[in-house]
Amino acid sequence: MGKKVTVVGAGFYGSTTALRLAEYDIFDTVVLTDIVEGKPEGIALDINQSRPVEGFETKLVGVGGGSYEGTENSDIVVITAGLPRKPGMSRMDLIETNAKIVRSVSEQIAKTSPDAVVIVVSNPLDEMTALTQLATGFPKNRVLGQAGMLDTARFTNNVAEELDVPVSSVRTLTLGSHGDTMVPVPSRCTVDGKPLADLLPAEKVEELVVRTRNGGAEVVALLKTGSAYYAPSAAAARMAKAVAEDSGAVMPVCAWVDGEYGISGVYLGVEAELGATGVRKVVEGDLTDSELADLKQAAEAVRAKQADVADL
Ligand code: NAI
Ligand code: 2OP
Repeated sequence: MGKKVTVVGAGFYGSTTALRLAEYDIFDTVVLTDIVEGKPEGIALDINQSRPVEGFETKLVGVGGGSYEGTENSDIVVITAGLPRKPGMSRMDLIETNAKIVRSVSEQIAKTSPDAVVIVVSNPLDEMTALTQLATGFPKNRVLGQAGMLDTARFTNNVAEELDVPVSSVRTLTLGSHGDTMVPVPSRCTVDGKPLADLLPAEKVEELVVRTRNGGAEVVALLKTGSAYYAPSAAAARMAKAVAEDSGAVMPVCAWVDGEYGISGVYLGVEAELGATGVRKVVEGDLTDSELADLKQAAEAVRAKQADVADL
């Protein structure tokens, strides 16, 4: 039987993710759900009508009114339900409202799709990922969050624009939290295999790091209502594809860290190998002493916040 993926939340992030997943044409069904009646059904109909033009067969099913009918036994669930931030808000300002939403969604998923791999995107990301694992009771490898793919893509785009080179020639990496303690990793950045440090002065690299850290806020400030969704949905969809295809692709994600980098017992942005079981393993790469110190600082910052979500 073909694979089924459910996307919870039919807002900007959820609907663009559903479209990307459908266009891969590797799933039997993409189910899109929301508490709002009619919205997921309408988006599903609209996307299905694009199939003859784009030439894909995956069928979208929209389920509104907070129902989970039709989502049963999904292989993968992507949680996008929750409020996005407004200009001036930090991701952390969303924690109480989104924790209630993400907890209730997680409890439903645990009942209806007990074997699913769950990819969380709702903000604040690191905390909502930890909460989803708690509320589903799923093994930690089967719950992961999307942030590093997006932050890394932003870093890559920033470098490519600065040097006016194709994005395909640039490799970058971003670890840590999807927040103030994000850790862009310049020592792992290359352009056509050459170290970024050989191509740009240190101050310019630092500017690109700062722009990457503020990447989400930069888009929010321009949009004025809501936050980014094209790059975020590309990131989440790629993760779901790696899981669906059991590909073993290594990508930066929010994963449970258990001893790697000398860090334990926390969901944190690290590189991980993805497959049908979710996170197959965390992949530890080389970091400079100061990058490692920043990663440890990020771990302690999110550990404190993740402990709070148990009570939300
Ligand atoms: P949006 O406001 O367009 O959509 C959110 C949707 O969630 C709405 O349609 C709403 O009706 C639905 N919803 C609320 N409660 C629900 C529930 N209990 N069950 C099902 N659906 C429910 O917001 P957008 O732009 O789609 O963003 C969604 C989330 O993703 C936000 O929390 C945002 O901060 C986060 N985000 C995370 C990123 C990341 O890199 N991790 C990047 C961009 C956004
Ligand atoms: C972003 O980074 C707001 O988390 C969202 O675009």
